[in-house]
Amino acid sequence: MQMASFSEQPRPFEWGPLLDSSFSSFLSEYAPAKIAILVDENTHDHCLEFLLTAFDALAEAEVILLPAGEENKVLEVCFQVWETLTEAGFDRHDLLINLGGGVVTDLGGFVASVYKRGLSFINIPTSLLCMVDASIGGKTGIDFAGYKNQLGTFQEPIATYIDTGFLATLPEVEWRNGFAELLKHALISDHVLWEKLSKIQHIQQELLSETILQGVQIKAQIVAQDPSEKGLRKILNFGHTIGHALESYYLNTETPLSHGHAVALGILLEAKLSQFELGLPVEDFVEIETLLTKFYPLQLPTDSNAIWVLMQQDKKNVNGEVRICLLPKIGNCLFDQTLTLQAFEQVYTHFLA
Ligand SMILES: NC(=O)c1ccc[n+]([C@@H]2O[C@H](COP(=O)([O-])OP(=O)(O)OC[C@H]3O[C@@H](n4cnc5c(N)ncnc54)[C@H](O)[C@@H]3O)[C@@H](O)[C@H]2O)c1
Repeated sequence: MQMASFSEQPRPFEWGPLLDSSFSSFLSEYAPAKIAILVDENTHDHCLEFLLTAFDALAEAEVILLPAGEENKVLEVCFQVWETLTEAGFDRHDLLINLGGGVVTDLGGFVASVYKRGLSFINIPTSLLCMVDASIGGKTGIDFAGYKNQLGTFQEPIATYIDTGFLATLPEVEWRNGFAELLKHALISDHVLWEKLSKIQHIQQELLSETILQGVQIKAQIVAQDPSEKGLRKILNFGHTIGHALESYYLNTETPLSHGHAVALGILLEAKLSQFELGLPVEDFVEIETLLTKFYPLQLPTDSNAIWVLMQQDKKNVNGEVRICLLPKIGNCLFDQTLTLQAFEQVYTHFLA
């Protein structure tokens, strides 16, 4: 696999097998006195051993184990990580390696960004979603008071290594979750990529490494133009205003909705809004609906008001108005579009019918 790094973004990521990457030389040059590796139960079982055996510098690393799942992306779990780092005497020149999906990189980045005002960290994403989205762009965060990513920071890792070899053990459902963010990247910025993705019948078998790299590049290029989300970067939130509200709604229920599934449903509803509000061509909407409903079953609470209330906490809102991203056509996205309750209810009830 070809190695590539992209220096035009705030922090370059490195693409390709970790063994062929600069990771090993980075560890010897940076030479932190202490290294901690943050994993969840699954990346502990499937990804950690490779790292510990392949890189001598990690032999003595402190392994910090988190319970897996979004419900653990919370302050109480951060407390445990901060306690471990404190007891082990970590200072800000030491190193935290986040080895996992978006929960590990979001929480690990957040923990590191406030520990002694900034502990250096590296992201090694192991889920598709984390590779194409969460590990890139310097957003860290945890859920709080029932709201997604309510607490967080902008803090870039000192390096990000993306090795699709880790995907060998990723469960099928997690491929689908990551695919949702890849579809979003295509819908907002790349019609040709969308055409390619829309032909896929079996994600795990048919999604090529080059296509994953295209998704990473889209995210990296958008972030490079607007690292602190003053404008353009907001388009990465397409599908997330409604998606995050759905994810928050289901977070503490018996049937939590995964981030990717919630985003997919958010994309579906926000695409319909795009048709009603911005004239997205009907045939574009039908293409989007056909693909999304193939992979993501429609699961919407009947209480539309509960979703609207959760949307009031969205970080893109201005002066109490809900601001949303909409598609005038596939491959093009506008941000800061005002969403009224009336327009939201019209679309929501369309899907409940
Ligand atoms: N910071 C950002 O810009 C950003 C962007 C998008 C999403 N996110 C966040 O990312 C999170 C979702 O990420 P996610 O879907 O990766 O969730 P996740 O971290 O929960 O990973 C999904 C599941 O896959 C398992 N897993 C990960 N890698 C594996 C591997 N190689 N083999 C076997 N199992 C593996 C995990 O243990 C977990 O059970 C959400 O919290 C979301 O808010 C952040």
